Amino acid sequence: MVTRRGFLAGTAASAAAAGLASGVTAFASAASAETQTAKRALEFYGPHQMGIEADLQAVTNFISFDLKPSVDKAAMLRWMSLITDDISRLSQGDPVLADPSPELALGAARFSAYVGFGPSLFRKLGLEDQMPIGFGELPKFKIDQLKPEFSGGDVLIHVAADDPVVLSHGARGLVRDSMPFATVRWTQSGFAHTPGMVPAGVTHRNLMGQIDGTANPKFGTEDFDNVVWISDGPEWAIGGTQLVFRRIAMQLDTWDQLGTPSKEEVIGRRLSNGAPLTGERESDIPDLAARHPNGLKVIPDFAHIRRAAPESEGERIFRRPFSYEAGFNAQGSLDVGLLWAAYQANMQNQFIPIQNRLAEVDLLNKWTLPIGSAVFAVAGGVRPGEVIAQRLFF
Ligand code: HEM
Repeated sequence: MVTRRGFLAGTAASAAAAGLASGVTAFASAASAETQTAKRALEFYGPHQMGIEADLQAVTNFISFDLKPSVDKAAMLRWMSLITDDISRLSQGDPVLADPSPELALGAARFSAYVGFGPSLFRKLGLEDQMPIGFGELPKFKIDQLKPEFSGGDVLIHVAADDPVVLSHGARGLVRDSMPFATVRWTQSGFAHTPGMVPAGVTHRNLMGQIDGTANPKFGTEDFDNVVWISDGPEWAIGGTQLVFRRIAMQLDTWDQLGTPSKEEVIGRRLSNGAPLTGERESDIPDLAARHPNGLKVIPDFAHIRRAAPESEGERIFRRPFSYEAGFNAQGSLDVGLLWAAYQANMQNQFIPIQNRLAEVDLLNKWTLPIGSAVFAVAGGVRPGEVIAQRLFF
């Protein structure tokens, strides 16, 4: 059997034999890029779970579970110890214990996974007093058209990696080890860029073409710690965070009809580089043109970034959205949008006031529609020998 590595070496050798030096260089650099992706591992142990304070990976899967009726705190602890062991191995590119397909553990490829718990888990297990401060079900926003198949859940395992095969293999291992305890309620897969397509960071181009993530708190700063990580309340959640997950569909057919200036007005930033709008401009968005007959000065009042900007000091979130794409319909319209994920220490004080404002008025609402929603309290990180969320279930 010819392995991929053997094939590459063989092809490069024949290219060299034919005197095609540049061909050899191309093969060599393709091989080293592959190896780099395979070898890049994220740290599993630490004060926070992995995969949050991290550059976006190429592919992702949010997997939501409902507990089986017999599951109690002791069973949760057993489930979490299996999962903790699995993630510690997968994140280093190793197979899980008793892996039926260890040959698919091809490398770390920045595989990450973390675990969070929905408000229904706390109710089912009588653990309401362990809910983090500010955590709970979201109110219904008037823009919402939520579908049950994309919403809710007792437990979330969110996986991501830079390679789709590594991701699929890792997710399957985690789901397999979860089946004694829970059923899968929904899974939602998404993607960002492959490594090297855009500068490192959490900014990516969403499918409306915008650079998304510019105004996020920066990694490794006190600001990031304050915005994202829980620092008081129940002990198990210290160093954890609160995730608001929203599936937001984009109406690309009508969006495509706008010219670049109008698209930029909707957000308040330039499509080319994400910089805020400056100067004066004409608008071809009817509402805006009517209100500003002599041309519009800089960022419209109802632009997304004006409405989303904090109105009080603590009102900030860390956005880490992936794109999703679920295929074309017969008319050629694409079912696309964002698996919009925001992390914060207290969603009551951070996400909810922002979303209330945006639901009230935001130019972007004309082209976006929230169709799925879930919230999860993400446990703090683990040290070697510890189990994720052990203080919640012990
Ligand atoms: C499909 C839906 C959405 C799209 C396409 C979108 C896109 C964008 C873009 C392009 C920016 C500017 C660049 C940046 O700073 O990241 C931005 C900023 C922002 N968005 Fe969104 N967004 C969406 C949904 C939401 C939702 C649901 C919220 C919160 C409830 C939100 C909150 C924010 C915040 C807080 C900012 C930064 C504002 C500032 O400059 O201070 N976005 N968004």
